[in-house]
Amino acid sequence: MLATVPLVAILAVIFGKKIKKLSKQAQDASADSNTILQETLMGIKNVKSFTNEAFEIIRFNTTTESIKNLSIRGAIFRGLFAAFIIIGMFGAVTIVIWQGVNMTNTGELQMHDFIRFILFTIFLGASFGGISSMFGTIQKAIGATERLMDLLDDTNETQENETEFNHTLKGNVVFKDINFHYETRPDINVINNLNFEVKEGQTTAIVGPSGAGKSTISSLLLRFYEPTKGSILFDNIPSSDFNRRELRNQMAIVPQEVLLFGGTIEENIAYGNPKASFEEIENAAKQANAYDFITEFPEGFKTMVGDRGIQLSGGQKQRIAIATGSFEKSKNFNTG
Ligand SMILES: Nc1ncnc2c1ncn2[C@@H]1O[C@H](COP(=O)(O)OP(=O)(O)OP(=O)(O)O)[C@@H](O)[C@H]1O
Ligand SMILES: [Mg+2]
Repeated sequence: MLATVPLVAILAVIFGKKIKKLSKQAQDASADSNTILQETLMGIKNVKSFTNEAFEIIRFNTTTESIKNLSIRGAIFRGLFAAFIIIGMFGAVTIVIWQGVNMTNTGELQMHDFIRFILFTIFLGASFGGISSMFGTIQKAIGATERLMDLLDDTNETQENETEFNHTLKGNVVFKDINFHYETRPDINVINNLNFEVKEGQTTAIVGPSGAGKSTISSLLLRFYEPTKGSILFDNIPSSDFNRRELRNQMAIVPQEVLLFGGTIEENIAYGNPKASFEEIENAAKQANAYDFITEFPEGFKTMVGDRGIQLSGGQKQRIAIATGSFEKSKNFNTG
């Protein structure tokens, strides 16, 4: 019986690899099909205006078909693995019985010992057989979660200087010999030897062609990325001396692409300062020229936006984003 263990191990390696690979492919295909579904439904107006319904249906069907095929192939391999194990086990049991009968015939083995041995062997065999299906399931799960594991293994934003630094920014910014490229595109230097200085209280607009790197500059200010060369100074202190939370807390941003959260208008504006009173929220809306259109809604600031509420126009969304960003105005720092 124990001689079947190496066989089980060899089969486990061969089938395990295959099962894991197929399960990962099925998971990837499922992600693809979900992306298609999500994009098509989000952009349903685009799909319809370009009359691409048939095209999207075919695209979705193709990926769904591939999920089905990959899943079936995975199941076949798991089934084959279990079948081989069971055949191996029963084959071994048969050989053991045959040998045992021979031994009882010659009187080498007592009948009761033989029966006991058979029972124990069947217990052992059944347990081993169970391992095969468990092993198959585990390999399937490993394959399916491989991408998730990649995400979990990703490094955090380094949380250096977690101790409070407590420096209130005045608003002096220096970009010194800044070079920067995105990690995903190391061949393209987005920012090349950039030098500039902004003084406290000064309003600076950065103008340039699309793709010139303006949004990248604001990402560098917020320390979403670190420059590949050079240094950024806030009030003459290197940006790396600040703790990221502290720095971001003192900056306001109105993003280029506005994303409102499902919730009320009030909650969305308060995102810039969750402790804001209703009066402060109203003021922020007034400053951003959003007060009038908000109060025209029957439910005013309690109007739900997003999927379950009303749809705002592009400009209305932008003005809410400006109201959200206006909270940190007092802190001398705005970017966007
Ligand atoms: N996350 C990213 N990963 C890789 N490359 C990026 C990323 N974001 C931007 N880029 C690239 O960096 C360059 C600068 O982009 P950036 O968004 O800073 O331009 P921009 O000046 O803000 O343009 P626009 O006026 O159109 O908003 C572009 O070539 C863009 O393709
Ligand atoms: Mg931009």
